[in-house]
Amino acid sequence: MKNAPEFVHDFETFGDNGLSQLLEAAQRFAADIWQGRAEVVYRRGEHHSKPGRWLTLLGNNGNGKTHLIKRLFRYARRHCEAFRCPVTTAVLGRSCVYRDWRKLLPEIYEGSFGQLENHRKAWLVAIDDLWAAPDRSALGESIINALATREDKWTLITSNKSLEWIGQHDKRLATRMNRYGEVVQIDTTDFSLRKEKV
Ligand SMILES: Nc1ncnc2c1ncn2[C@@H]1O[C@H](COP(=O)(O)OP(=O)(O)OP(=O)(O)O)[C@@H](O)[C@H]1O
Ligand SMILES: [Mg+2]
Repeated sequence: MKNAPEFVHDFETFGDNGLSQLLEAAQRFAADIWQGRAEVVYRRGEHHSKPGRWLTLLGNNGNGKTHLIKRLFRYARRHCEAFRCPVTTAVLGRSCVYRDWRKLLPEIYEGSFGQLENHRKAWLVAIDDLWAAPDRSALGESIINALATREDKWTLITSNKSLEWIGQHDKRLATRMNRYGEVVQIDTTDFSLRKEKV
């Protein structure tokens, strides 16, 4: 089996425990999707992906959540999206979707409902800044429902809401974040403030 390609993260930890936790969680996820991309189960003449898992990054503004999920998304696209099946030698597509909540919500308001189906089925979905914009209708709820059905699929979520806040807003999603994967919540100095100090 091929060695895993390097996960290029460009992420500095400044000796900060919280930032190290974020980076280590992202590195574990990169290693797992690399492993997971090659796992295919054959049932009744069809291939099925082996189950994936979730990674949720929470915490204050500017702690590098978006930075890390964008790099994980890039890693997945570059190294995992197309996989040649060792049995049939066919190239199996692994669709990867990245969406910023603030752009996704208005698009769905405008009627792009097909997107919800993509988000339900894609091999990997990254939703950045969940609940960054207020969600005023049942449509936001539909996105959450689509996410909630992804229990066995690779899913990345960031939000600057706390797990407690998410639990109050949608208990089901907060439970799934823990049950289906890993939640890392940190409170640390905004990267831009660190840079000003240098
Ligand atoms: N630890 C880090 N090392 C290198 N660059 C960083 C780090 N943290 C943040 N950055 C950079 O700082 C900027 C802001 O970070 P980012 O957007 O990832 O923050 P965020 O946690 O998603 O904030 P928000 O909650 O406001 O969405 C980005 O340009 C990102 O590349
Ligand atoms: Mg962000």
